[in-house]
Amino acid sequence: MNPTYEKLMKCFDSLRALTDFKPQLALVLGTGLGNFAERIRIVQTVDYHDISDFPVSTVQGHKGRYVFGYVDAVPVVIMQGRVHYYEGYDIADVVLPIRLMRLMGAEVLFVTNASGGICETFHAGDLMLISDHISSFVPSPLRGENMDELGTRFPDMTDAYDPELRTIIRSTARKEDIPLQEGVYLQLPGPQFETPAEIRMARALGADAVGMSTACEVIAARHMGMRICGISCVSNMAAGMSGGPLLHEEVQQNADMAAPRFETLVHRSITAIAKSI
Ligand code: HPA
Repeated sequence: MNPTYEKLMKCFDSLRALTDFKPQLALVLGTGLGNFAERIRIVQTVDYHDISDFPVSTVQGHKGRYVFGYVDAVPVVIMQGRVHYYEGYDIADVVLPIRLMRLMGAEVLFVTNASGGICETFHAGDLMLISDHISSFVPSPLRGENMDELGTRFPDMTDAYDPELRTIIRSTARKEDIPLQEGVYLQLPGPQFETPAEIRMARALGADAVGMSTACEVIAARHMGMRICGISCVSNMAAGMSGGPLLHEEVQQNADMAAPRFETLVHRSITAIAKSI
């Protein structure tokens, strides 16, 4: 059997032995949404460490867990802590937690992250609805023998970020009076922040925001037929755009400042999405 598929099934069996919860929607919590679990009626949590064969970093005692519960009446699974490519995992391992959430039953994937703003009209603290992505600088998670059990060899990516879900999020933002930008997210490998020259390149390529996650997760989810939406918190303007150096602490602080708006928008959008599907 394909070793990637074998590992996925082993993780799935291990997770199923711990919980039979069936989520409708999967949510990945990025920087700035760390407290979102407080908005959930939690039914169960599962530490990544407790799932056999789950890609948990041996390098840095990586913290992370699935949270199962309800956002209002919507059954959700939440990834609190994601797996990043820059930590050294194979790209197939980076997306394994996403694939698992689909196998658990989730039909919709809601991704969130923090990013550097590239679009000149953005400001630190803005929220950006992701309209599309550029993943060309990281390897595809679909590389290698196709797992026909999961999806097709050449999946379409035209509407990777579901137009109907984007409409719902836009109208939720309007209703909640939360300003919302919209744009293209570029995933770079990291972990170093970009140079100003790389940001000029990214802008020329059509990117509005840059980060180190998400696009590969969306590819894996799309491969498995999920409907996807995503919001990025522009935690800083990208390298060379604001004069000073980029500091991780500052990125974190700006994301924390946007957190209440970010949480409300994600919360209300999930409720609205569940009503429409
Ligand atoms: N670059 C890459 N990733 C990021 C940034 C950035 O400026 N801000 C938050 N994540």
